[in-house]
Amino acid sequence: MLQQRTIEIIKSTVPVLQVHGEAITSRFYELLFQKHPELLNIFNHANQKKGRQQAALANAVYAAAANIDKLEAIIPVVKGIAHKHRSLGVKPEHYPVVGENLLLAIKDVLGDAATDEIINAWAEAYGVIADVFIGIERNMYEDAGWEGFRPFVVARKVEESSVITSFYLEPEDKKALAKFKPGQYVSVKMDIPGQENTHIRQYSLSDATGKSSYRISVKKESGRNAVDGIVSVYLHESVKEGDILHLSAPAGDFYLNTTSEKQVVLISGGVGLTPMVSMLKTVASEQPERKITFVHAAINGQAHALKKEVQEIAEASDHITTHFVYESPLDEDLDYTKTGYVDQAWLKEILPIRDDAEYYFCGPIPFMQVINTALLELNVPKENIHFEFFGPASDLEKESIKA
Ligand SMILES: Cc1cc2nc3c(=O)[nH]c(=O)nc-3n(C[C@H](O)[C@H](O)[C@H](O)COP(=O)(O)OP(=O)(O)OC[C@H]3O[C@@H](n4cnc5c(N)ncnc54)[C@H](O)[C@@H]3O)c2cc1C
Ligand code: HEM
Repeated sequence: MLQQRTIEIIKSTVPVLQVHGEAITSRFYELLFQKHPELLNIFNHANQKKGRQQAALANAVYAAAANIDKLEAIIPVVKGIAHKHRSLGVKPEHYPVVGENLLLAIKDVLGDAATDEIINAWAEAYGVIADVFIGIERNMYEDAGWEGFRPFVVARKVEESSVITSFYLEPEDKKALAKFKPGQYVSVKMDIPGQENTHIRQYSLSDATGKSSYRISVKKESGRNAVDGIVSVYLHESVKEGDILHLSAPAGDFYLNTTSEKQVVLISGGVGLTPMVSMLKTVASEQPERKITFVHAAINGQAHALKKEVQEIAEASDHITTHFVYESPLDEDLDYTKTGYVDQAWLKEILPIRDDAEYYFCGPIPFMQVINTALLELNVPKENIHFEFFGPASDLEKESIKA
């Protein structure tokens, strides 16, 4: 238990640290990687360069510190982060390393304003917060489908669209696959020739559980900002059938509640459709009477992945409605619902906006912001709205988020 005085210091300094939040976390990462370059094997370099990870960690530390006397309030958030940590292989022994460098960064940025009393209070508070993470992660390691990164053979590589390719992955040890919940992801650890570090990326499982392989469907991130995505481009261009990929066990707190009978609305943009297809397939086979509305936005028919698979499932059921929205349809595109973008007025027309429906969405951040705002303005209760970020989580209700 922290002393009352420590709690007061933490609470009164949170706003100061928030002002310097990104400067502190930038300095923190600089120190961390100077002293522990091996950690570059687990942190995502692109997120670092774009500042997204800095913002995510800073916000989490301040949220935790602001709730230091009632940490149970942030347990749901901690669990989401802990899923990511577990899938990356973050261990208890990493926490003191992070704590030490965070305190050094606070000292560096605040200078004389960071008195010994303040630094000691933050050291204590960090210890309490770290213990909460470590405790939750310990349980997750115990419950994980397997330990560490397990080798999987690429059994099939299937082009799903002009930009998305699926990889069917079978465990090399031929032992049983762990079950997963529709919406969960795996982390893939890649050792790429010519790269100094290993790179870990998350990919949502795009098929239902209970098969002999896992399927991931990956968008080739090339051309944007003239910097090619390291892992996705390598997967598309160099990984072949028969190659080995290393996966940690399924993780994530974004998944469909299959014990509920409430109708489901699944909304995706681009490659954000992967968890939605897993959810659709799961409901279609396990809860065939449950109503589903499946909305997917793509640039055009060529970029639209897994379309036939979704159409076949929908056609076999009286309870599934699909809507495809194409930003710039091609002449050959015939079977889509709408040209342009998904917007609030259209959602209002096509969706069952009701208290008892559950809404799940995923896509580029600006897309997610539109959907989130629309659902909230249409009075969908917050607890019925669920979404996944294909990067560090941020606050969708903030005005501007770095994509
Ligand atoms: C929970 C979760 C689930 C996911 N599921 C999927 C999925 O099902 N399918 C899928 O395709 N992806 C998914 N992702 C995203 C995936 O993990 C990777 O982020 C994605 O494949 C890009 O990785 P990369 O190594 O190819 O690109 P990176 O090398 O990580 O680069 C990412 C982006 O940043 C840009 N970039 C890189 N360096 C810079 C720089 N210096 N300045 C500016 N921009 C830069 C690149 O052009 C690229 O667009 C998911 C992510 C999460 C967190
Ligand atoms: C109390 C301490 C910590 C807090 C508050 C914290 C917070 C966070 C947050 C908010 C994220 C983003 C989650 C998301 O993707 O949405 C994250 C990701 C991550 N954390 Fe932590 N973390 C802590 C400790 C650690 C430690 C000890 C390590 C290991 C050295 C670590 C390694 C990582 C990595 C590698 C990622 C993913 C980075 C990326 O994708 O760029 N974290 N953490």
